[in-house]
Amino acid sequence: MNTYKIAVIAGDGIGKEVVPAAIEVLDEVAKLDGSFQFEWTYFPWGCDYYLEHGVMMPEDGLETLKQYDQIFLGAVGMPELVPDHISLWGLLIKIRRGMKQSINVRPAKLLAGLESPLKNPQNFDITVVRENSEGEYSDSGGRMHSGSDEIAIQNAVFTRKATERAMRYAFELAKNSKGHVTSATKSNGLTYSMPFWDEVFDDVKKDYPEVQSVSNHIDALAAFFVMKPHAFNVIVASNLFGDILTDLGGAIMGSIGIAPAANLNIEREYPSMFEPVHGSAPDIAGKGIANPIGQIWTGKMMLDFLGHSNAGDRVLNAIETTLASGIKTGDLGGTANLEEVKNAIIENLKNDTMIM
Ligand code: NAD
Ligand code: IPM
Ligand code: MN
Repeated sequence: MNTYKIAVIAGDGIGKEVVPAAIEVLDEVAKLDGSFQFEWTYFPWGCDYYLEHGVMMPEDGLETLKQYDQIFLGAVGMPELVPDHISLWGLLIKIRRGMKQSINVRPAKLLAGLESPLKNPQNFDITVVRENSEGEYSDSGGRMHSGSDEIAIQNAVFTRKATERAMRYAFELAKNSKGHVTSATKSNGLTYSMPFWDEVFDDVKKDYPEVQSVSNHIDALAAFFVMKPHAFNVIVASNLFGDILTDLGGAIMGSIGIAPAANLNIEREYPSMFEPVHGSAPDIAGKGIANPIGQIWTGKMMLDFLGHSNAGDRVLNAIETTLASGIKTGDLGGTANLEEVKNAIIENLKNDTMIM
């Protein structure tokens, strides 16, 4: 029996609601599978912790996390009380960078039982590979002058190593699934970063002659996501472009509340972190109505990464059966609450006849 030690950071807002729900589902599928179990260790880090201690996590937080196999995180942010750049850079981005989770994998596909807000969507199945360690998210820049002369400068940093790493990951994914790669660029408007991005893309694609590839400007790509999402397979994008595109990916599936994500340390030197696309949703926090599917599907990505893709498939199957039976939260047009959706997924897990 494999025992996986998982560090749990529920974080803020609906993170505190969807994480325990997903853990129940993951424990259930582990029990049904019988070959592995989870040992969950909870860390109360987040904005409440900040308000008490003045930091989002303890000084030795990253060292502590290194002792775990993986990290399961809900969401971070209480923008009314703690400025976002402090809470996110003090916890989420700090962990992504500290654990060298340089690849952010975010799927978007049409699920059985769900209606996309798109009018006549053909079946789509997209994986966005987002560069997760640099790019437009940099702490290089500054502010100067004041009043009407005030200037804010935010530098973007693109290294060949990180750019190439994300692109190779995308090409490997496409190669293994006989798919194709689209690069999200904006080299018509940006003078250094994206021309460089295109150059690296052209270099990397030479190593994958069997994989078809194309570059699209991010503005057109966003429009294509709405008009013809079925045309995409693997997309490689910079940190900011990938961020925006994956909320859009959630939206075309039906809700950002179901979109999953994985922050991968592909070298497996440090724990990876599994955390959905959505945030802490302060507007609905504490009401028990958040959609737990994003967090549960994220749990499926953790199962896949741990090598238990049968159990992972079983979780996604139970999600789809639940949706097809009409049990949905309000963001998907339903009337069920979080508890009802979670319970239905667990019931469907128990009842399903998939062979493990
Ligand atoms: P958000 O994703 O929290 O919410 C956007 C909208 O989607 C809201 O109307 C919300 O109610 C809805 N929504 C999100 N998840 C849902 C779910 N599971 N079920 C039902 N509805 C859901 O984005 P925001 O409002 O821009 O950000 C709120 C806070 O979260 C901010 O502090 C932001 O910085 C932070 N944030 C954190 C993460 C993270 O930790 N990974 C990600 C995104 C945003
Ligand atoms: C996400 C979030 C974060 C990001 C924010 C909260 C810093 O939007 O995980 O998608 O942009 O990476
Ligand atoms: Mn985002």
